Amino acid sequence: SYQAEYERSIKDPEGFWRDQAKQIHWDQFPETILSQDERGFYRWFKGGKLNTAYLALDYHVENGRADQTALIYDSPVTNTKKTYTFRELRDEVARFAGVLKNVGVGKGDRVVIYMPMVPEAAIAMLATARLGAIHSVVFGGFAPHELAIRIDDATPKAMVSASCGIEFTKVIEYKPLLDKAIELATHKPDACIILQRPQATAPLTEGRDHDWQEALAKATPADPVMVDATDPLYILYTSGTTGKPKGIVRDNGGHAVALRYSMEKIYGAKPGEVYWAASDVGWVVGHSYIVYAPLITGCTTILFEGKPVRTPDAGTFWRIIEEYKVSVFFTAPTAFRAIKKEDPRAEFLKKYDVSSLKALFLAGERLDPPTYHWLKDNLGKLPVIDHWWQTESGWPIVANPFGMELKEVRPGSATLPVPGYDVQILNARGEQQEANEEGSVVVKLPLPPGCLPTLWQDPDRFQGSYMRAFPGYYLSGDGGYKDQDGYVFIMGRIDDVINVAGHRLSTGEMEEIIGAHPAVAECSVFGIHDELRGQVPVGLVVLKDGVDTDNEIIEKELVEMVRNAIGAVAYFRRAAVVKRLPKTRSGKILRHILRKLADGTRYDLPSTIDDPNILQEIKDVMAEQQIGDAFQN
Ligand code: COA
Ligand code: AMP
Repeated sequence: SYQAEYERSIKDPEGFWRDQAKQIHWDQFPETILSQDERGFYRWFKGGKLNTAYLALDYHVENGRADQTALIYDSPVTNTKKTYTFRELRDEVARFAGVLKNVGVGKGDRVVIYMPMVPEAAIAMLATARLGAIHSVVFGGFAPHELAIRIDDATPKAMVSASCGIEFTKVIEYKPLLDKAIELATHKPDACIILQRPQATAPLTEGRDHDWQEALAKATPADPVMVDATDPLYILYTSGTTGKPKGIVRDNGGHAVALRYSMEKIYGAKPGEVYWAASDVGWVVGHSYIVYAPLITGCTTILFEGKPVRTPDAGTFWRIIEEYKVSVFFTAPTAFRAIKKEDPRAEFLKKYDVSSLKALFLAGERLDPPTYHWLKDNLGKLPVIDHWWQTESGWPIVANPFGMELKEVRPGSATLPVPGYDVQILNARGEQQEANEEGSVVVKLPLPPGCLPTLWQDPDRFQGSYMRAFPGYYLSGDGGYKDQDGYVFIMGRIDDVINVAGHRLSTGEMEEIIGAHPAVAECSVFGIHDELRGQVPVGLVVLKDGVDTDNEIIEKELVEMVRNAIGAVAYFRRAAVVKRLPKTRSGKILRHILRKLADGTRYDLPSTIDDPNILQEIKDVMAEQQIGDAFQN
């Protein structure tokens, strides 16, 4: 059934997605299924009217699910558990929408949300959507500078935050970070709504800040505001190749249709079942599969404030699966690598009954074969499914279509293209690669519903970043190949983006930051292999003439600079001074060679390299500084 469905989606996208659009509730069904705007960008479901928060909540309250649990909050870091039925969540969201309305938020306005993993984060997102406003959630691990960049780009009317987040046992005060970000930003929001948590009390700024509870007590519930299918639901910033993140726009109509489809056909999740994505609302997985997709589908979702390990132990995931009878579970491979490190024989798993699970899905980075085999060895017959997607797509591009039929798993492959995505592998000249030949992974246009229609207020960058390299195709930024049966193997980014513990980061941005150090003449940042995090960034710097600083001192300063500018999540911990960097004759730094040197993997010396002797100098420095697998004892 997968094959027929896939073929129809490619041959007749309009007919295919018209049928899918009928599966959700519209205030007004779209006039056209697929169209192009004045710039030639594809748009889905023009003329359709709907409200995403209504679909996620009110629709279920009105259709027999009012008393079903919609959201479970489980927080081992605060010893808290709380559940909301669809009715309770709808009422909370409607009242918080009233709070936003009271501070002037209306249709099309932006609301920046900077929150830890508490139910109020999801409530703020849904309340924004209820008003037809546009949210932009910023991951709590980002530093004020990153938050400020997003404030200036999204120009929010209001911001929503909390007094603190909790990382393992460490209380991280958010309010000083929020205040600093607003101070750094040129744009100033009119209002900030702050959730006070018992672990920290935030001082409020008179006239600008409002206490969540007090504001809620004064608010009256707001009704859903219908929006056009093509109106933005949210902006989610993601790392590109420069210091300026890309504001991925998600529209309302395509998003709702695509997510509902994915829950049925990819994840095989049925209304009423418990679906759990252990991620963070600050990432796309959190947007799509903690908040919107499960709720739109009528599933119960779990919002987990904890880590795979040490909250309190490596059995937390299994405990939650047993306690709430989770049907479908989704997390990042790095989370299981952390569990495997602490509990290699999966002793904790034996203590829990995880028989409710139908499938385990992994994404955010490639499911490396050793982690896949560890999971298979310990979970028996349970399907362990790798699937590939991006912030840009918002839902899976390549997956094992478990909801339709489970295909044979080939470790290292995310399996087959999802219906709607014509995935191809092209060489540098834009020609299709043969089976098993690596190339650039692209998707033939049009992209299916749910994918980014543009970048926030930057259509030129949208065109330049994704559409220009191969006209008629979307450039994913990943490299990979298809095998003889069409199985897609994603081998990693071929641009300046790296993936650290499932977090997407830009080496280009890190170069901009450390390049500003007064002693640095030039630098290169690249991702090297890391057992737990998949990749971690490393910097090599050439000092300005006449500067004579100790490697240890400069490393400490550079690490501090990246931590201050991006945040601890960047995990930039190592830097070394070198005399020269390897370049092409035209002056381009050969980052991929540096990465391969550090990892000890094979590389072909480019014929354009300026001076091959530099590589030996770099190897000597890496060996001395113990940087990279190849040079560690
Ligand atoms: N707020 C504030 N700080 C945060 C943060 C957040 N939300 N998330 C991470 N950080 C900080 C950490 O406290 C740590 O700080 P430190 O250097 O002061 O110790 C730093 O960022 C690095 O964090 P991380 O790389 O996550 O390491 P960790 O040891 O805290 O946890 C894992 C390691 C593997 C357990 C964790 O990264 C994990 O659960 N990863 C899964 C990620 C995921 O689900 N991604 C979503 C894609 S599906
Ligand atoms: P993000 O936008 O944060 O979701 O990151 C997307 C990037 O993560 C992709 O471009 C890939 O490089 C990587 N990625 C995500 N899922 C997978 C996967 N299943 N296999 C390989 N790479 C993945």
